[in-house]
Amino acid sequence: MSIALKILTSEDKEACETVKVSEEEVSLDKKKLFIESYGCQMNFSDSEIVASVMRGAGFATTASEQDADLIFLNTCAIRDNAEQKVRNRLQQLNHLKKKKPGLLIGVLGCMAERLKAKLLEEEKMVDIVTGPDAYRDLPRLIEEAETGQKAVNVLLSREETYADISPIRLNSNGVTAFISIMRGCNNMCSFCVVPFTRGRERSRDPHSIVREAEELFAQGYREVTLLGQNVDSYHYGNAQNGEQSYDFAELLGMVARVHPDLRVRFSTSHPKDITDRVLYAMRDHENVCNYIHLPAQSGNSRILELMNRTYDREWYMQKIDRIRAILGEDCGISHDMITGFCTETEAEHQDTLTLMEYVRYDYGYMFAYSERPGTPAAKKLQDDIPYDVKLRRLNEVIALQQKHSLERNQRLVGRVHKVLVEGTSKRSDGDLQGRNDQNKVVVFPRKDFNKGDYVHVLVTECTAATLIGHSVEEVAA
Ligand code: SAH
Ligand code: SF4
Ligand code: F3S
Repeated sequence: MSIALKILTSEDKEACETVKVSEEEVSLDKKKLFIESYGCQMNFSDSEIVASVMRGAGFATTASEQDADLIFLNTCAIRDNAEQKVRNRLQQLNHLKKKKPGLLIGVLGCMAERLKAKLLEEEKMVDIVTGPDAYRDLPRLIEEAETGQKAVNVLLSREETYADISPIRLNSNGVTAFISIMRGCNNMCSFCVVPFTRGRERSRDPHSIVREAEELFAQGYREVTLLGQNVDSYHYGNAQNGEQSYDFAELLGMVARVHPDLRVRFSTSHPKDITDRVLYAMRDHENVCNYIHLPAQSGNSRILELMNRTYDREWYMQKIDRIRAILGEDCGISHDMITGFCTETEAEHQDTLTLMEYVRYDYGYMFAYSERPGTPAAKKLQDDIPYDVKLRRLNEVIALQQKHSLERNQRLVGRVHKVLVEGTSKRSDGDLQGRNDQNKVVVFPRKDFNKGDYVHVLVTECTAATLIGHSVEEVAA
């Protein structure tokens, strides 16, 4: 499989990444924590909260699992293969534990929440199970585990937002950072386990969000991504009680005003909730990036109804039309798509392909349907599409996306783009890599530029995944 295709096949979206730490973090008298994150950006962001809580309890993070006194896996439950990955990793860690009997192993995050204490029965090497709303309790749970008992806290909360905890940036490039603005999800998409693993939706105090963005800017960061399962339903404050209330469009403006050189991105938008006000806020603030991740999940209205997405094909298309009318043809748009959902016919699958033709997405994250126990779809619908059919449909969706990604990138060749440099290119030390406004990766010769610089790059060629060019003096058109 080519690299270009790989970025689109979306196992990467729920990737696994090991946390690296800076030197000053590792101090000899402290106990050492090794933390590995799986799943979506929310989980990566949560690991930074966990590192902060654990620092308070006398733990420093380490990049070496061999050195660790405590290993956390922050897990994902979105598809069966996400959980299998964690189970395989636990088997590996079991070998380490046999060599080092004092080592404690904790499973955090969505798989912990889904399986609760059952995980302790199934995976005997696990000492601690902690759900996403119980991270403040970790120091106590560890003390309990240190006495040889198994420790579990999977209570979900209606209030917890960790607003007062300053995340410790892990594996950071020093330029881009995530800010969690809300937790949980109140939608009930029938295929999805997230409402069960992350509980009810709640929004974080906007002032604490702005403060975090200001601190990041002062530390040299130049881009923040505001994170939530459904950012467009962000809502803080009760207007009926006379309190000032804030919606997502207002929050976007507040964060954009932190500094014109701080780029602002956000994810994820739900087609039913993204409003014209959000689109206008994007248009009116130069530093709010021209890119929207707008998962469709299917292009067929009957399937969308079975999925309980609460919009149909036409509604989705109208949203795309609004985006293009307000933000122009250049606005980057990406999607999530599921193939082979319960009872999906060939004709309905074709509707997904024709929706993609209509939109011509810049990127896509595409998945074969994986039934999750306890979800509405698992309870009410038959997972009746054979795996090879799901996979064949998936491959068709991926191939079409590949074609569209290339076409969308080709439109941008010959133009100058303002690129925020994130670091050295993965392909060559002589090149730098960054992103343009539409979230596209741009590679160009290093010259004297550094991480965190804004550079104008004339794009001269492209692949489906990358724009390639060289720096120029003039300002982007
Ligand atoms: N909150 C986001 C997405 C969260 S999960 C949203 O509403 O769009 C990320 C993606 O995983 C989903 O958009 C969906 O495409 C995919 N996904 C979720 N549950 C799945 C399942 N059971 N099988 C396959 N893909 C799934
Ligand atoms: Fe899952 Fe739907 Fe919520 Fe996204 S909006 S997290 S897909 S239930
Ligand atoms: Fe996975 Fe939980 Fe995110 S299930 S996709 S880590 S919210």
